[in-house]
Amino acid sequence: MERAVHTPVLLEEVISFLDPYQGGVVVDATVGEGGHSLAILERISPKLLVAVDRDIEILSVARERLSDYDNVIFLYGNYSNLPELLAKEGIEQVDAVLMDLGISSFHLEDPERGFSFLEKGPLDMRLDRVGSHLTAFEVVNEYSEKRLAEVIKEYGEEPWAKRIAKRIVEARKEKPLRTTEDLARVVKSAVPKRFWPRRIHVATRTFQAIRIEVNDELTHLKRALKNVVDILSPKGRVVVISFHSLEDRIVKHTFKSFEAKGLGVVLTKKPIVPSDGEIEKNPRARSAKLRVFERSE
Ligand SMILES: C[S@@+](CC[C@H](N)C(=O)[O-])C[C@H]1O[C@@H](n2cnc3c(N)ncnc32)[C@H](O)[C@@H]1O
Repeated sequence: MERAVHTPVLLEEVISFLDPYQGGVVVDATVGEGGHSLAILERISPKLLVAVDRDIEILSVARERLSDYDNVIFLYGNYSNLPELLAKEGIEQVDAVLMDLGISSFHLEDPERGFSFLEKGPLDMRLDRVGSHLTAFEVVNEYSEKRLAEVIKEYGEEPWAKRIAKRIVEARKEKPLRTTEDLARVVKSAVPKRFWPRRIHVATRTFQAIRIEVNDELTHLKRALKNVVDILSPKGRVVVISFHSLEDRIVKHTFKSFEAKGLGVVLTKKPIVPSDGEIEKNPRARSAKLRVFERSE
């Protein structure tokens, strides 16, 4: 069966925030499979679209998908280094930056990448399999019980973090946890069944936490937002879609701090969320929140 392509989230809303930059320079800092980028190329007609991703494998999917357009450059790299990545191409300022955080269906649906508790795969979870070394296997099998509990609590907001960490450490004494199935089984055994969440899988939060740790996602997000204001042209915008409260909190506070420093204005006093219709068609959109900051003149 052919794999379904990732559905871009809050697409109409993103396009309307980027609409003032017809013919400008736009960065899609998380191009993924290029869903948002394709619509940007069709509807914003930028002079140049810079398509960035930390995952070289997904970047080649985007390259193929957007191959009809010659106004796109593809950059393999981390959005936390955006100014440096752009400088290498001789670009100092851009009109708009889109960041659609997290992972793509492309990652979730490939068991080999180890992101999904629904299918058996190796405990990997790296977005960048070329440049980064820490894997979920190391986090799960080598971190101390205390550190594991902290990671699961902090990045997963998991109330059962201590028990899950304890069970992981007990299980790995017998033999290392090698697969996503091994990890999901241990999480299930740590949380009494009557406390399993109703709307999400019992292992969702633990998997999210370990993925965030493996990819150091919050550090990169903070650094990226801090840097992005420096490359925005006057009246330029940064549009961010986040998928969980830890990310959204960082985006909200950073934008507020920019405003307090007189760097520009937050255009979304409240985050924009998907309509019921969008959630029905694409349940993955459920937790999305979009925030936009516009640089002053
Ligand atoms: C939700 S997907 C983007 C989907 C895309 N907007 C689309 O419509 O197809 C997020 C993408 O961001 C990439 N990514 C995550 N963290 C990154 C980082 N620090 N720097 C660059 N890309 C990153 C992931 O590899 C993934 O491809």
